Amino acid sequence: MRLLITGAGGMLGQEMQRAARRVTAGVDWRVAAFMREDLDVASQESIFSAIAMVSPQVIVNCAAYTNVDGCESEAETAYRMNGEVPGVLAKAARETGALLVHYSTDYVFDGRASTPYKEDHPVAPLSVYGRSKLAGEDAIRSGDARHLILRTQWLYGRHGRNFVDTILEKAAAGEQLKVVNDQFGAPTWARDLAVATLEAVALKLTGTFHAVNAGRCTWYDVALRAVTLAGMDPSLVTPTTTAEYPRPAQRPAWGVLDLSKLAEAGVTFRPWDEALEEYVTRERVASLDAAAGAEAGDKQK
Ligand SMILES: NC(=O)c1ccc[n+]([C@@H]2O[C@H](COP(=O)([O-])OP(=O)(O)OC[C@H]3O[C@@H](n4cnc5c(N)ncnc54)[C@H](OP(=O)(O)O)[C@@H]3O)[C@@H](O)[C@H]2O)c1
Repeated sequence: MRLLITGAGGMLGQEMQRAARRVTAGVDWRVAAFMREDLDVASQESIFSAIAMVSPQVIVNCAAYTNVDGCESEAETAYRMNGEVPGVLAKAARETGALLVHYSTDYVFDGRASTPYKEDHPVAPLSVYGRSKLAGEDAIRSGDARHLILRTQWLYGRHGRNFVDTILEKAAAGEQLKVVNDQFGAPTWARDLAVATLEAVALKLTGTFHAVNAGRCTWYDVALRAVTLAGMDPSLVTPTTTAEYPRPAQRPAWGVLDLSKLAEAGVTFRPWDEALEEYVTRERVASLDAAAGAEAGDKQK
C-alpha cells in the first residue's frame, strides 16, 4: 500500500517511516517520506505536487506546530499549521481518493472530567495549541474525505526533544527535578503509536479514535519510573503542583483517554510502563551506545 508521510523528520514521522519500512500489520507498505524541506505543508501547491508524484493510497500527516507554549505567542502559525493545513490535506485526499490519517491531542478537552474521555465527550480546549488542533479536526470532519483522526498525548521517542529524554539527561547530570503530580494522562511511545496507526489503516478504520499507551499516571510518575529504570537515584525526583510551576499554556489536569473504541475495532496498546521500560532499558541504551561508539571511532581517526 502506498503511503505518503508529511513531517517525516519529526518524532512520530521518523517512527512512522521505521514502521512502514517493514511488514507491519501484514501489509507491505511502500513509503514516500517527505521531510519539511521536501514538502512544506504550508504550501498548497507543494502538497498537490507531492501527491501527484506519489499517488498515495494513504496520507499520514505527521507535520504540525507542536510547541504548546510557543503557540500562545504564535497563534497565527499555530492556526495555519494545525488548523488550516489539515483541511487542505483533506481536500487533496478527497480529490485523489486517498485516506487521510491525522493526529490530534487530549488538549482538545478542558480536563475537568474524572473518568477517561470518550471520543464524543464535549470538547473545550484551554490553550491556543488545543484550539488550533481542534480546528484541524473540524476542518477534516467538515469535508467528505475518508479520514482517520487519532488523538494522542505525551509522546516520547528517539527522535526529537521529549519529556523522558529531558528528565534522564538532567538526572544523569545530578540535577534535582521537581515534576508536576496533578496532571493525569499516559506517556505514549511514538513507536507504539506508529505501529497502531498502520494496524488501524490495515483494518480500514475511519473516524476519530483515542490512541495512547494504556493506563494512567502523572508526569511525576513518569519521571520517577524513567529515572528508576535507568538505574539512577529516584530521590532526585520530587513532586510539585501545576500552580507552583506556571507555564504560558494551560494544560488540562485530567487528560486520560478512553481506549475502548479503538480496542473494540481491533487495535490495542500495551500499558505505558511496559513501553517506557523497553524504551529506557533497551532502545535508549542502544542509541546511547551507538552514539558513544561513533564518538570513539571519530577520536581514533
Ligand atoms: N508530541 C506530543 O506529545 C504530542 C501530543 C499529542 C499530539 N501530538 C500530535 O502528534 C503529531 C506528531 O507530533 P510530533 O511529536 O512528532 O511532532 P514533532 O516532533 O514536532 O514533528 C512535527 C514535524 O512537523 C514538521 N513541520 C513543521 N512545519 C512544517 C511545514 N510547514 N511543512 C512540513 N513539515 C513541517 C516539523 O519540522 P521542523 O522540526 O523542521 O519544525 C517536524 O518535523 C502532531 O500532529 C502533534 O500535534 C503530539
